Amino acid sequence: MTHKLMILPGDGIGPEVMAEVRKVLSWLENDAGIAFEIEDGLIGGASIDAHNDPLTDDTLDQCRKADAILLGAVGGPKWADVDYNIRPEAGLLKLRKELDLFANLRPAIVFDALVDASSLKPEIVKGLDILIVRELTGGVYFGEPRGIEDLGNGQRRGFNTQTYTTSEIQRVGRVAFDLARKRDNKVTSCEKANVMESGKLWREEITALHKAEFSDVELEHMYADNCAMQLLRNPSQFDVIVTDNLFGDILSDEAAMLTGSLGMLPSASLGNPGSPGLYEPVHGSAPDIAGQGKANPLATILSLAMALRYSLNEGQTANQLEQAVQGVLNNGTRTPDIMAPGCSEVSTSAMGDALIRALEKTL
Ligand code: NAD
Ligand code: IPM
Ligand code: MN
Repeated sequence: MTHKLMILPGDGIGPEVMAEVRKVLSWLENDAGIAFEIEDGLIGGASIDAHNDPLTDDTLDQCRKADAILLGAVGGPKWADVDYNIRPEAGLLKLRKELDLFANLRPAIVFDALVDASSLKPEIVKGLDILIVRELTGGVYFGEPRGIEDLGNGQRRGFNTQTYTTSEIQRVGRVAFDLARKRDNKVTSCEKANVMESGKLWREEITALHKAEFSDVELEHMYADNCAMQLLRNPSQFDVIVTDNLFGDILSDEAAMLTGSLGMLPSASLGNPGSPGLYEPVHGSAPDIAGQGKANPLATILSLAMALRYSLNEGQTANQLEQAVQGVLNNGTRTPDIMAPGCSEVSTSAMGDALIRALEKTL
Protein backbone atom coordinates (compact mmCIF):
# COMPACT_ATOMS: atom_id res chain seq x y z
CA MET A 1 0.00 0.00 0.00
CA THR A 2 1.52 3.28 -1.15
CA HIS A 3 0.42 6.48 0.55
CA LYS A 4 0.00 9.46 -1.76
CA LEU A 5 1.29 12.63 -0.18
CA MET A 6 1.09 16.15 -1.50
CA ILE A 7 3.71 18.44 0.00
CA LEU A 8 3.19 22.21 -0.03
CA PRO A 9 6.17 23.85 1.74
CA GLY A 10 4.92 27.42 1.20
CA ASP A 11 6.83 30.46 2.41
CA GLY A 12 9.24 31.70 5.06
CA ILE A 13 10.15 28.92 7.46
CA GLY A 14 7.69 26.59 5.66
CA PRO A 15 10.35 25.06 3.37
CA GLU A 16 12.84 24.90 6.27
CA VAL A 17 10.58 22.87 8.55
CA MET A 18 9.33 20.76 5.64
CA ALA A 19 12.92 19.75 4.83
CA GLU A 20 12.99 18.04 8.25
CA VAL A 21 9.69 16.28 7.53
CA ARG A 22 11.25 14.97 4.32
CA LYS A 23 14.07 13.42 6.38
CA VAL A 24 11.45 11.63 8.47
CA LEU A 25 9.60 10.44 5.36
CA SER A 26 12.84 9.04 3.89
CA TRP A 27 13.54 7.27 7.15
CA LEU A 28 10.03 5.81 7.24
CA GLU A 29 10.48 4.55 3.67
CA ASN A 30 13.95 3.12 4.11
CA ASP A 31 13.87 1.88 7.67
CA ALA A 32 10.22 1.28 8.49
CA GLY A 33 9.11 -0.01 5.08
CA ILE A 34 6.30 2.48 4.55
CA ALA A 35 5.85 3.41 0.90
CA PHE A 36 5.04 6.97 -0.12
CA GLU A 37 4.37 8.53 -3.47
CA ILE A 38 5.24 12.17 -2.97
CA GLU A 39 4.34 15.17 -5.11
CA ASP A 40 5.39 18.73 -4.47
CA GLY A 41 3.45 21.90 -5.12
CA LEU A 42 3.45 25.62 -4.56
CA ILE A 43 1.11 27.56 -2.31
CA GLY A 44 1.00 31.08 -0.94
CA GLY A 45 3.63 33.62 -1.87
CA ALA A 46 5.73 30.99 -3.66
CA SER A 47 2.78 30.32 -5.98
CA ILE A 48 2.04 34.03 -6.41
CA ASP A 49 5.63 34.57 -7.54
CA ALA A 50 5.44 31.68 -10.03
CA HIS A 51 1.82 31.90 -11.26
CA ASN A 52 0.35 35.13 -9.87
CA ASP A 53 -2.12 32.93 -8.00
CA PRO A 54 -1.75 31.68 -4.38
CA LEU A 55 -3.19 28.25 -5.29
CA THR A 56 -3.59 27.16 -8.90
CA ASP A 57 -6.34 24.81 -10.07
CA ASP A 58 -3.67 22.27 -11.06
CA THR A 59 -2.22 22.22 -7.56
CA LEU A 60 -5.70 22.00 -6.06
CA ASP A 61 -6.45 19.01 -8.32
CA GLN A 62 -3.24 17.31 -7.20
CA CYS A 63 -4.29 17.90 -3.59
CA ARG A 64 -7.70 16.31 -4.18
CA LYS A 65 -5.98 13.16 -5.44
CA ALA A 66 -3.69 12.79 -2.42
CA ASP A 67 -4.34 10.74 0.72
CA ALA A 68 -2.90 13.52 2.84
CA ILE A 69 -1.55 17.01 2.26
CA LEU A 70 1.39 18.31 4.28
CA LEU A 71 1.74 22.08 4.43
CA GLY A 72 4.47 24.30 5.87
CA ALA A 73 3.22 27.87 6.16
CA VAL A 74 2.18 30.75 3.93
CA GLY A 75 2.59 34.51 3.94
CA GLY A 76 5.16 37.17 4.55
CA PRO A 77 5.83 40.90 4.24
CA LYS A 78 6.65 40.59 0.53
CA TRP A 79 2.99 39.87 -0.22
CA ALA A 80 1.34 41.90 2.54
CA ASP A 81 -0.04 44.71 0.41
CA VAL A 82 -1.88 42.82 -2.30
CA ASP A 83 -5.66 42.26 -2.56
CA TYR A 84 -7.18 39.71 -0.19
CA ASN A 85 -8.11 37.32 -2.98
CA ILE A 86 -4.53 37.04 -4.21
CA ARG A 87 -2.74 37.15 -0.86
CA PRO A 88 -0.80 34.03 0.21
CA GLU A 89 -3.37 33.37 2.95
CA ALA A 90 -6.13 33.20 0.32
CA GLY A 91 -4.45 30.09 -1.13
CA LEU A 92 -4.68 28.31 2.21
CA LEU A 93 -8.27 29.41 2.80
CA LYS A 94 -9.21 28.22 -0.70
CA LEU A 95 -7.60 24.83 -0.06
CA ARG A 96 -9.52 24.40 3.22
CA LYS A 97 -12.80 25.54 1.64
CA GLU A 98 -12.54 23.59 -1.62
CA LEU A 99 -11.77 20.34 0.20
CA ASP A 100 -14.48 21.11 2.79
CA LEU A 101 -12.01 20.61 5.64
CA PHE A 102 -14.40 21.86 8.29
CA ALA A 103 -12.86 20.34 11.42
CA ASN A 104 -9.45 21.60 12.50
CA LEU A 105 -7.92 19.62 15.36
CA ARG A 106 -5.28 21.52 17.31
CA PRO A 107 -3.95 19.47 20.23
CA ALA A 108 -2.01 21.34 22.91
CA ILE A 109 0.08 18.79 24.75
CA VAL A 110 2.77 19.72 27.26
CA PHE A 111 5.70 17.33 27.02
CA ASP A 112 7.24 16.71 30.44
CA ALA A 113 10.63 17.91 29.23
CA LEU A 114 9.10 21.26 28.21
CA VAL A 115 7.19 22.06 31.39
CA ASP A 116 9.71 24.80 32.13
CA ALA A 117 9.54 26.23 28.60
CA SER A 118 5.98 27.42 29.17
CA SER A 119 5.51 30.98 30.34
CA LEU A 120 3.11 29.60 32.98
CA LYS A 121 4.09 27.96 36.25
CA PRO A 122 5.03 24.26 35.95
CA GLU A 123 2.24 23.12 38.30
CA ILE A 124 -0.32 24.75 35.98
CA VAL A 125 0.83 23.13 32.72
CA LYS A 126 2.35 19.81 33.79
CA GLY A 127 0.65 16.88 32.05
CA LEU A 128 -1.64 19.18 30.07
CA ASP A 129 -3.42 17.55 27.13
CA ILE A 130 -6.23 19.55 25.57
CA LEU A 131 -7.71 19.52 22.10
CA ILE A 132 -9.12 22.55 20.33
CA VAL A 133 -11.57 21.69 17.58
CA ARG A 134 -11.81 24.77 15.43
CA GLU A 135 -14.52 25.16 12.78
CA LEU A 136 -12.52 25.88 9.64
CA THR A 137 -14.68 26.59 6.60
CA GLY A 138 -17.30 29.01 7.89
CA GLY A 139 -17.79 32.02 10.08
CA VAL A 140 -16.39 35.47 9.54
CA TYR A 141 -13.50 34.12 7.43
CA PHE A 142 -15.89 33.32 4.59
CA GLY A 143 -19.12 35.24 5.34
CA GLU A 144 -20.59 37.63 2.76
CA PRO A 145 -20.91 40.53 2.39
CA ARG A 146 -17.36 41.65 3.07
CA GLY A 147 -15.32 44.54 1.86
CA ILE A 148 -14.15 48.09 2.31
CA GLU A 149 -16.41 50.80 0.93
CA ASP A 150 -15.89 54.48 0.43
CA LEU A 151 -18.38 56.57 2.35
CA GLY A 152 -17.20 59.83 0.83
CA ASN A 153 -16.03 62.77 2.96
CA GLY A 154 -12.78 60.90 3.64
CA GLN A 155 -14.52 58.08 5.53
CA ARG A 156 -14.42 54.39 4.66
CA ARG A 157 -16.23 51.39 6.14
CA GLY A 158 -14.69 47.92 6.49
CA PHE A 159 -17.11 45.04 7.04
CA ASN A 160 -17.20 41.26 7.38
CA THR A 161 -20.03 38.89 8.15
CA GLN A 162 -20.06 36.28 10.87
CA THR A 163 -22.42 33.50 9.81
CA TYR A 164 -23.15 29.91 10.82
CA THR A 165 -25.87 27.49 9.80
CA THR A 166 -27.31 24.57 11.77
CA SER A 167 -25.48 21.96 9.70
CA GLU A 168 -22.14 23.76 9.91
CA ILE A 169 -22.42 23.81 13.70
CA GLN A 170 -23.68 20.24 13.95
CA ARG A 171 -20.96 18.66 11.85
CA VAL A 172 -18.07 20.23 13.76
CA GLY A 173 -19.91 19.57 17.03
CA ARG A 174 -20.15 15.88 16.14
CA VAL A 175 -16.39 15.71 15.57
CA ALA A 176 -15.75 17.31 18.96
CA PHE A 177 -18.15 15.04 20.86
CA ASP A 178 -16.82 11.93 19.10
CA LEU A 179 -13.24 12.83 19.96
CA ALA A 180 -14.17 13.64 23.56
CA ARG A 181 -15.56 10.12 23.95
CA LYS A 182 -12.07 8.77 23.22
CA ARG A 183 -10.49 11.20 25.71
CA ASP A 184 -11.80 12.59 28.99
CA ASN A 185 -15.41 12.82 27.77
CA LYS A 186 -15.84 16.56 28.21
CA VAL A 187 -16.60 19.28 25.64
CA THR A 188 -16.44 23.01 26.28
CA SER A 189 -18.24 24.96 23.57
CA CYS A 190 -17.11 28.57 23.17
CA GLU A 191 -18.85 31.49 21.52
CA LYS A 192 -20.18 34.94 22.39
CA ALA A 193 -23.87 34.09 22.72
CA ASN A 194 -24.19 37.11 24.98
CA VAL A 195 -23.61 39.55 22.12
CA MET A 196 -23.86 37.69 18.79
CA GLU A 197 -26.82 35.95 17.13
CA SER A 198 -24.43 33.50 15.47
CA GLY A 199 -23.16 32.66 18.96
CA LYS A 200 -26.70 32.19 20.28
CA LEU A 201 -27.44 29.81 17.40
CA TRP A 202 -24.12 28.01 18.03
CA ARG A 203 -25.06 27.43 21.68
CA GLU A 204 -28.59 26.27 20.85
CA GLU A 205 -27.46 23.85 18.15
CA ILE A 206 -24.67 22.38 20.27
CA THR A 207 -27.14 21.94 23.14
CA ALA A 208 -29.64 20.20 20.83
CA LEU A 209 -26.95 17.94 19.32
CA HIS A 210 -25.74 17.01 22.78
CA LYS A 211 -29.24 16.12 23.90
CA ALA A 212 -30.00 14.10 20.77
CA GLU A 213 -26.75 12.17 20.28
CA PHE A 214 -24.14 12.76 22.96
CA SER A 215 -25.82 13.05 26.36
CA ASP A 216 -23.14 10.70 27.78
CA VAL A 217 -20.51 13.40 27.18
CA GLU A 218 -20.15 16.25 29.67
CA LEU A 219 -20.98 19.57 27.95
CA GLU A 220 -20.15 23.02 29.19
CA HIS A 221 -20.76 26.36 27.44
CA MET A 222 -18.33 29.21 27.94
CA TYR A 223 -18.03 32.69 26.50
CA ALA A 224 -14.91 32.88 24.36
CA ASP A 225 -13.37 35.75 26.32
CA ASN A 226 -13.73 33.80 29.55
CA CYS A 227 -12.22 30.77 27.79
CA ALA A 228 -9.16 32.85 26.86
CA MET A 229 -8.76 33.74 30.53
CA GLN A 230 -9.46 30.21 31.84
CA LEU A 231 -6.82 28.81 29.47
CA LEU A 232 -4.24 30.78 31.43
CA ARG A 233 -5.83 30.41 34.87
CA ASN A 234 -6.46 26.69 34.90
CA PRO A 235 -5.98 25.02 31.50
CA SER A 236 -6.38 21.47 32.77
CA GLN A 237 -10.10 22.06 33.38
CA PHE A 238 -10.46 21.58 29.59
CA ASP A 239 -10.56 18.39 27.57
CA VAL A 240 -12.01 19.27 24.15
CA ILE A 241 -12.83 22.87 23.24
CA VAL A 242 -15.10 23.35 20.22
CA THR A 243 -15.35 26.81 18.76
CA ASP A 244 -15.78 28.83 15.60
CA ASN A 245 -13.19 29.74 13.00
CA LEU A 246 -12.01 33.07 14.43
CA PHE A 247 -12.13 32.23 18.14
CA GLY A 248 -10.41 28.91 17.34
CA ASP A 249 -7.61 30.72 15.54
CA ILE A 250 -6.96 32.96 18.53
CA LEU A 251 -7.46 30.42 21.31
CA SER A 252 -5.11 27.93 19.62
CA ASP A 253 -2.24 30.41 19.42
CA GLU A 254 -2.85 31.09 23.10
CA ALA A 255 -2.91 27.37 23.89
CA ALA A 256 0.37 26.99 22.00
CA MET A 257 2.16 29.05 24.60
CA LEU A 258 1.02 26.66 27.32
CA THR A 259 3.10 24.01 25.55
CA GLY A 260 6.20 26.19 25.47
CA SER A 261 6.18 27.43 21.88
CA LEU A 262 4.04 27.95 18.82
CA GLY A 263 6.71 25.78 17.20
CA MET A 264 5.29 22.75 19.07
CA LEU A 265 1.64 22.85 17.97
CA PRO A 266 0.51 20.59 15.11
CA SER A 267 -2.87 20.47 13.43
CA ALA A 268 -5.09 18.25 11.32
CA SER A 269 -7.87 19.58 9.13
CA LEU A 270 -10.45 16.95 8.33
CA GLY A 271 -13.46 16.88 6.04
CA ASN A 272 -15.93 14.29 4.86
CA PRO A 273 -14.98 10.60 4.71
CA GLY A 274 -12.77 9.89 1.72
CA SER A 275 -11.44 13.41 1.41
CA PRO A 276 -7.72 13.97 2.05
CA GLY A 277 -6.75 15.56 5.35
CA LEU A 278 -4.57 18.66 5.49
CA TYR A 279 -1.76 18.64 8.05
CA GLU A 280 0.05 21.80 9.01
CA PRO A 281 1.67 23.42 12.04
CA VAL A 282 -0.44 26.05 13.79
CA HIS A 283 2.30 28.62 13.35
CA GLY A 284 2.88 30.82 10.33
CA SER A 285 5.83 31.60 8.10
CA ALA A 286 7.72 33.42 10.90
CA PRO A 287 9.38 36.08 8.71
CA ASP A 288 11.37 37.30 11.72
CA ILE A 289 13.42 34.08 11.85
CA ALA A 290 13.10 32.76 8.27
CA GLY A 291 16.33 31.71 6.58
CA GLN A 292 18.29 31.57 9.83
CA GLY A 293 17.98 27.91 10.76
CA LYS A 294 16.17 28.86 13.97
CA ALA A 295 12.71 27.45 13.29
CA ASN A 296 11.44 24.59 15.40
CA PRO A 297 10.39 21.80 13.00
CA LEU A 298 8.59 19.73 15.65
CA ALA A 299 5.09 21.19 15.06
CA THR A 300 5.34 20.17 11.41
CA ILE A 301 6.79 16.77 12.28
CA LEU A 302 3.99 16.23 14.81
CA SER A 303 1.54 17.21 12.04
CA LEU A 304 2.98 14.35 9.99
CA ALA A 305 2.26 12.08 12.98
CA MET A 306 -1.36 13.28 12.85
CA ALA A 307 -1.45 12.50 9.10
CA LEU A 308 -0.18 8.99 9.79
CA ARG A 309 -2.90 8.55 12.41
CA TYR A 310 -5.94 10.22 10.81
CA SER A 311 -5.44 9.80 7.04
CA LEU A 312 -2.97 6.98 6.46
CA ASN A 313 -4.07 4.36 8.96
CA GLU A 314 -0.53 4.12 10.36
CA GLY A 315 -1.39 4.78 14.00
CA GLN A 316 1.49 2.76 15.36
CA THR A 317 4.02 4.72 13.33
CA ALA A 318 2.36 7.92 14.52
CA ASN A 319 2.93 6.80 18.12
CA GLN A 320 6.53 5.94 17.29
CA LEU A 321 7.13 9.38 15.79
CA GLU A 322 5.60 11.10 18.83
CA GLN A 323 7.76 8.96 21.07
CA ALA A 324 10.83 10.08 19.12
CA VAL A 325 9.85 13.72 19.61
CA GLN A 326 9.62 13.04 23.33
CA GLY A 327 13.03 11.35 23.08
CA VAL A 328 14.82 14.35 21.57
CA LEU A 329 13.24 16.68 24.09
CA ASN A 330 14.23 14.39 26.98
CA ASN A 331 17.79 14.50 25.65
CA GLY A 332 17.82 18.26 26.03
CA THR A 333 17.92 18.99 22.31
CA ARG A 334 16.34 22.41 21.81
CA THR A 335 15.74 24.91 19.05
CA PRO A 336 16.04 28.51 20.33
CA ASP A 337 12.27 28.93 20.95
CA ILE A 338 12.30 26.18 23.61
CA MET A 339 15.89 26.57 24.82
CA ALA A 340 16.45 26.17 28.57
CA PRO A 341 19.50 26.26 30.86
CA GLY A 342 21.51 23.03 30.71
CA CYS A 343 20.09 22.04 27.31
CA SER A 344 21.89 22.18 23.98
CA GLU A 345 20.71 24.67 21.39
CA VAL A 346 20.50 23.30 17.86
CA SER A 347 19.47 24.48 14.41
CA THR A 348 16.34 23.41 12.55
CA SER A 349 18.30 20.86 10.58
CA ALA A 350 20.17 19.48 13.61
CA MET A 351 16.82 19.01 15.35
CA GLY A 352 15.69 16.94 12.36
CA ASP A 353 18.87 14.85 12.54
CA ALA A 354 18.43 14.32 16.29
CA LEU A 355 14.88 13.20 15.66
CA ILE A 356 16.05 10.58 13.17
CA ARG A 357 18.51 9.24 15.77
CA ALA A 358 15.65 9.11 18.29
CA LEU A 359 13.47 7.29 15.75
CA GLU A 360 16.19 4.69 15.32
CA LYS A 361 16.01 4.02 19.05
CA THR A 362 12.27 3.29 18.79
CA LEU A 363 12.86 0.28 16.53
P1 NAD B 1 3.90 33.37 13.02
O1 NAD B 1 3.23 32.19 13.58
O2 NAD B 1 4.54 33.21 11.69
O3 NAD B 1 4.99 33.90 14.06
C1 NAD B 1 4.67 34.34 15.37
C2 NAD B 1 5.92 34.26 16.26
O4 NAD B 1 6.20 32.90 16.58
C3 NAD B 1 7.18 34.81 15.59
O5 NAD B 1 7.96 35.46 16.53
C4 NAD B 1 7.89 33.56 15.10
O6 NAD B 1 9.28 33.68 15.00
C5 NAD B 1 7.50 32.54 16.16
N1 NAD B 1 7.44 31.20 15.54
C6 NAD B 1 6.47 30.73 14.71
N2 NAD B 1 6.75 29.49 14.33
C7 NAD B 1 7.90 29.15 14.91
C8 NAD B 1 8.71 27.96 14.88
N3 NAD B 1 8.37 26.87 14.17
N4 NAD B 1 9.84 27.96 15.60
C9 NAD B 1 10.20 29.02 16.33
N5 NAD B 1 9.48 30.16 16.41
C10 NAD B 1 8.35 30.22 15.69
O7 NAD B 1 2.81 34.54 12.96
P2 NAD B 1 2.89 36.01 12.34
O8 NAD B 1 4.26 36.56 12.47
O9 NAD B 1 1.74 36.71 12.91
O10 NAD B 1 2.58 35.78 10.80
C11 NAD B 1 3.58 35.71 9.79
C12 NAD B 1 2.93 35.30 8.47
O11 NAD B 1 2.46 33.96 8.55
C13 NAD B 1 1.70 36.13 8.09
O12 NAD B 1 1.74 36.34 6.72
C14 NAD B 1 0.54 35.25 8.48
O13 NAD B 1 -0.63 35.49 7.73
C15 NAD B 1 1.09 33.90 8.18
N6 NAD B 1 0.49 32.78 8.91
C16 NAD B 1 0.34 31.63 8.21
C17 NAD B 1 -0.15 30.51 8.84
C18 NAD B 1 -0.28 29.25 8.06
O14 NAD B 1 0.29 29.14 7.00
N7 NAD B 1 -1.01 28.28 8.53
C19 NAD B 1 -0.45 30.55 10.20
C20 NAD B 1 -0.26 31.75 10.91
C21 NAD B 1 0.22 32.87 10.25
C1 IPM C 1 -3.83 29.62 10.98
C2 IPM C 1 -3.51 30.92 10.28
C3 IPM C 1 -4.48 31.15 9.14
C4 IPM C 1 -5.85 31.38 9.75
C5 IPM C 1 -4.16 32.27 8.16
C6 IPM C 1 -2.78 32.20 7.61
C7 IPM C 1 -5.14 32.26 7.01
O1 IPM C 1 -3.45 31.97 11.17
O2 IPM C 1 -3.91 28.58 10.30
O3 IPM C 1 -3.98 29.63 12.20
O4 IPM C 1 -6.17 32.49 10.20
O5 IPM C 1 -6.63 30.43 9.76
MN1 MN D 1 -3.57 31.33 13.26
